[in-house]
Amino acid sequence: MDRELEELCKTIKAEWEENKEELAKRERVIPPPEYKCKKCNDSGWIEVRHDEEGIFFSHCPYCNLIDKLERSSKLSFANIPQIYANNRIEDFRTDLYSTKETRTVATSALNTVKYWLEELKEQEKYGRGLYFSSLAKGSGKTFLMSGLANRLLEMGKEVKFATSLDILNEIKKTWERKNTPESTEREGDLLEQLANCEILIIDDFGTEKAKDWINDRFYQIINARYNNKKITCYTSNIPLRNLQYDERITSRIKSTAYAINFPDEDIRAKIGREAHKELQKHI
Ligand SMILES: Nc1ncnc2c1ncn2[C@@H]1O[C@H](COP(=O)(O)OP(=O)(O)O)[C@@H](O)[C@H]1O
Ligand SMILES: [Mg+2]
Ligand SMILES: [Zn+2]
Repeated sequence: MDRELEELCKTIKAEWEENKEELAKRERVIPPPEYKCKKCNDSGWIEVRHDEEGIFFSHCPYCNLIDKLERSSKLSFANIPQIYANNRIEDFRTDLYSTKETRTVATSALNTVKYWLEELKEQEKYGRGLYFSSLAKGSGKTFLMSGLANRLLEMGKEVKFATSLDILNEIKKTWERKNTPESTEREGDLLEQLANCEILIIDDFGTEKAKDWINDRFYQIINARYNNKKITCYTSNIPLRNLQYDERITSRIKSTAYAINFPDEDIRAKIGREAHKELQKHI
């Protein structure tokens, strides 16, 4: 190359390097996007054949994006329901319970949850979860648990939240084409994901009759989580000692979850009554 031209190129390059951002803006140069996967440019697909028959693509094996997406969509039913999205631990009120005794129980539940959170690293190490129970409905179990779930999400944890009925229904859905290898595989996939997610929260646990297939599926999920020291949390209207499931299930829950009692008081009904009184004052 001509010496003079070479020098010029150098100067332009140097100037570009020095003022890249400014120049790019001024000259409207769009810098090439930074793809995480250089093989498929984050599309998830790569070309495998291109001939007169056409262009053929397959899932990119380097990033496995498509498979990951498929996997996460299978557990999408286990995302925290929208109605609980704004629940915060800070909004859990202990003054709503009507007696000194029930307020003490509620305060102790709240403090235990806060303590559990402070020591989250330890809980993760041993796979220690929580088991909220009260005989009464509307006592604040799901409220506090969803507040906890939101906090864990904010901390960047992978949290899955589903009622036990949801879980069983999703399992049943995979049976639609029963006895085909595909169906067995689909159910296996689902159970595996429930077993592997970082933190699993099962709301309203223990309400289903302990049929064999239910015992069997819960055992698969809970035992795998137990073996891998993954945190599982529960809310239930049944005290841990009275759960009707297989002993193999309950013994694993007992050894990995702190049992937290909630007051036997229906706060939802109380809030409803107070709102009604308030309304009557104005008519
Ligand atoms: N301690 C509390 N502080 C504030 N609101 C509460 C409290 N306990 C219950 N509630 C209200 O009552 C509703 C029902 O409580 P929930 O947590 O669903 O009861 P359950 O114990 O049956 O899971 C909640 O959505 C919330 O509005
Ligand atoms: Mg509930
Ligand atoms: Zn890729």
